[in-house]
Amino acid sequence: MAARKQKMVGREKREGTPASALLAWYDANARVLPWRVGPAARKKGAAPDPYAVWLSEVMLQQTTVATVTPRFQEFLDRWPNVDAMAKAPLDDVLGAWAGLGYYARARNLHKCAVEVAKLGGFPDAEEALRTLPGIGDYTAAAIAAIAFDAPAVVVDGNIERVTARLFAIETPIPAAKPEIKARIGELWPQKRSGDFAQALMDLGANVCTPRSPDCDACPLSKWCAAFARGDQESFPKRAVKAAKPTRFGEAYALFNGKGEVLLQRRPEKGLLGGMLGLPGTEWSVKKPDPAPPANAKWRAAGAVRHTFTHFHLELDVFAAPAPKAFRAPESHHWADAEEAKLPTVMKKALERATG
Ligand code: ADE
Repeated sequence: MAARKQKMVGREKREGTPASALLAWYDANARVLPWRVGPAARKKGAAPDPYAVWLSEVMLQQTTVATVTPRFQEFLDRWPNVDAMAKAPLDDVLGAWAGLGYYARARNLHKCAVEVAKLGGFPDAEEALRTLPGIGDYTAAAIAAIAFDAPAVVVDGNIERVTARLFAIETPIPAAKPEIKARIGELWPQKRSGDFAQALMDLGANVCTPRSPDCDACPLSKWCAAFARGDQESFPKRAVKAAKPTRFGEAYALFNGKGEVLLQRRPEKGLLGGMLGLPGTEWSVKKPDPAPPANAKWRAAGAVRHTFTHFHLELDVFAAPAPKAFRAPESHHWADAEEAKLPTVMKKALERATG
């Protein structure tokens, strides 16, 4: 199979440039996504809304298209423009973010909305965008390209893989990042920059996939160095990763007579900063001996596991009815267990306590 493909490379004519071939492919194959103005509408003059582009890019930073798609629409319905989001209480935005992970992003989303509302709109230059809260190199380039068609070079995980294959880049990721940006930058068109960026993303998502890429369907295979060698799946090269450590902790679910659960707001700084959660111990690398507070009759409800970016967490969950004279301490309050907006790990713990 690979040998046959390799022969084809020699015979096939390279018409146009990689950019023109990819854009023609995008015209026919662009994914329909709720935040996207597709190529046909773009050609008729429809312009993307920078607010929608920004919102989608922040939501997509560490979360899949499938997860973001319905949640994006929810956000847009609730806050249709940047002024609406700027006026919303931070807690509403944090609550709406539940389940999307990395709450620092929701905090920055709101902070950025406030700054942009003050500026009277989004800046169109990559450098100015990069100064805003929650907007790093990738997001600044993505907004500049997609919302404003500036020829900013956008590199996300999909584009990294496409580029590493196209140029058979031997340096492992992440050291290869500057090389990848430079190589794909050489092909970046001055016109239709936003479509080009999104075409690369779609190619990476649907054709140039991590495993079993569909090279027969790829508009870039004629130029692809990895395809010519028949070892496309071996790119991008990766440095050997350190294993994620596991941390351990305990979470305590105390229920009152109304079936409400005692929740505590987590400190602003740190993981799940400012979100609600079950009270509990620190999360440490050493598994503690079971030690729920002495003030109630605790039942061991079992453990839950959750994986964060840098570690796995194993939480032992304990449940108990609140003793008669119990008063919620400061920064704690009773909440309806069904309605509380909790981060995923705390939802899992609460389910273990009630299930
Ligand atoms: N992932 C991040 N941004 C995206 C976009 N604009 N289109 C598709 N996938 C994406």
